[in-house]
Amino acid sequence: MMRQLLFALVLLMPASAFAAGGESVPFHFDANLGNQASLQRGAKLFMNYCSGCHSLEYMRYQRIAEDLDIPEDVMENNLMLTQGKIHDTIQGTMPSEEAAEWFGKAPPDLSLTARERGADWIYSFLLSFYLDDSRPTGVNNVVMSNTAMPAVLAPLQGYQVLEHGEDGHGDAEGGGEGHGGGEPQFKLVQDGELNPAQYRSAVGDLTNFLVYVGEPAKMVRYSLGFKVIVFLLLFTGLAYMLKREFWRDVH
Ligand code: HEC
Repeated sequence: MMRQLLFALVLLMPASAFAAGGESVPFHFDANLGNQASLQRGAKLFMNYCSGCHSLEYMRYQRIAEDLDIPEDVMENNLMLTQGKIHDTIQGTMPSEEAAEWFGKAPPDLSLTARERGADWIYSFLLSFYLDDSRPTGVNNVVMSNTAMPAVLAPLQGYQVLEHGEDGHGDAEGGGEGHGGGEPQFKLVQDGELNPAQYRSAVGDLTNFLVYVGEPAKMVRYSLGFKVIVFLLLFTGLAYMLKREFWRDVH
């Protein structure tokens, strides 16, 4: 009996519990696709700071407008910074051959990055740029060392340095809400427009948005799941009443 119970428990565990693992990244982020305000802020940040280089090949502006409840005219006038129409997929503004020449590597399409790498990875990547003179971009990254991506969010975050070999904690202004061991210690040396907490929350919004982009059908599934449960409850009630009705004559 015990064994069956355990087996059932294992079956009931979410697949993500197994999918985790792989590379370990310093920070953790739980995506919340129910938080529409966060998704809208993430979309805005993406269009302003990322769409210059990165495309979202599998996503259309119109779909985002619909899913995130952004009026189409707001989308067209404020968020569509690349050329294109509301029905188009989101193309980076930069031709990829030239980008490859400038950065040494073409900026990849980000449609599926959240599915490939996970929310924790993207969140950590965006928090982990630090100053490094030896790099052509002037920065390096803890999560993807020697990355070709410049610190495009520095106007918001400011610049931080990586402090090696220190075991003290609590002075990590650039991030690090203490979990696990061996997380990098950053020190902010130049302020950006946002303070560290605001920056983390902005990066959370961006990550949330990229998780949504990776699987927009999740939104539909959430609302569908709710409807199905309501239907099942109603149906159970009906079936019960019907049963009582039938058996009344039998007794
Ligand atoms: C100036 C161009 C540029 C901008 C703007 C830019 N990136 Fe990048 N990004 C790159 C390049 C180049 C790479 C490839 C890095 C490498 O492989 O070394 C990259 C890689 C990435 C990756 C890793 C993808 C993978 O799976 O390897 C993520 C995630 C990412 N960028 C997110 C963002 C986000 C979010 C923004 C907006 C805040 C952004 N990028 C803005 C140039 C850019």
